[in-house]
Amino acid sequence: MEALPVKFSQTTLTELMIPSYANFGGKIHGGILLSLMDKVAYACASKHAGAYCVTVSVDEVEFLQPVEVGDLVHLKASVNYVGNTSLVVGIQVTAEDVKQHTIKHTNSSYFTMVAKGDDDKPVKVPPLLLEDMVQIRRFIETIKRKQVKKEAREELMSAKSQFLPADDFPLLRGQRCETRLSGSSSEFDQLFADD
Ligand SMILES: CC(C)(COP(=O)(O)OP(=O)(O)OC[C@H]1O[C@@H](n2cnc3c(N)ncnc32)[C@H](O)[C@@H]1OP(=O)(O)O)[C@@H](O)C(=O)NCCC(=O)NCCS
Repeated sequence: MEALPVKFSQTTLTELMIPSYANFGGKIHGGILLSLMDKVAYACASKHAGAYCVTVSVDEVEFLQPVEVGDLVHLKASVNYVGNTSLVVGIQVTAEDVKQHTIKHTNSSYFTMVAKGDDDKPVKVPPLLLEDMVQIRRFIETIKRKQVKKEAREELMSAKSQFLPADDFPLLRGQRCETRLSGSSSEFDQLFADD
């Protein structure tokens, strides 16, 4: 399979933020931006893969600045990494105020997509041709991020399976919650009611 350069599938989507995208505070709904990010990730990944792709996971998304009605939102997507059947697409979102001629960075995220064949099974994607240091850095960063995510997932699973009320209830001290258990569990209320 021939390697494809990053630029082959690089995709930019620009969308005008119309009033129906706004929340009750007059700013753009986060969900609108997430949907556009999914769309551009799909376009970019499918073009590289030469196949339809599905979204498997989305890395942490933080909205750093609000987006206003009337802004032009630009979503730039690049394939940062490919595995066998999966691809990681990096997306940078900026919002342009057309009257002020200003552009602000609102958020960036990474979408993991998997290419699927006509039988709905994952299919192999072409390797990625890295042509500059930025592309090499992004590929290597993704390898590291995948490793960190794997370790975090394992830790989370083990924390979930090791919930021991008697040991873990003290973690509720100082938190903004109350417990009001009934029946045999009510003895645990006492564990942090002492404060
Ligand atoms: C994505 C999907 C095909 C993976 O199925 P699977 O049986 O785990 O398949 P595999 O084990 O062969 O994994 C396929 C690839 O997905 C990757 N993958 C699976 N789960 C993942 C996860 N949680 N995060 C990141 N990558 C993941 C695997 O690492 C593998 O990558 P590789 O081939 O590059 O090594 C399957 O979970 C699916 O169809 N999910 C629904 C996706 C969807 O419909 N999304 C739209 C939202 S409605």
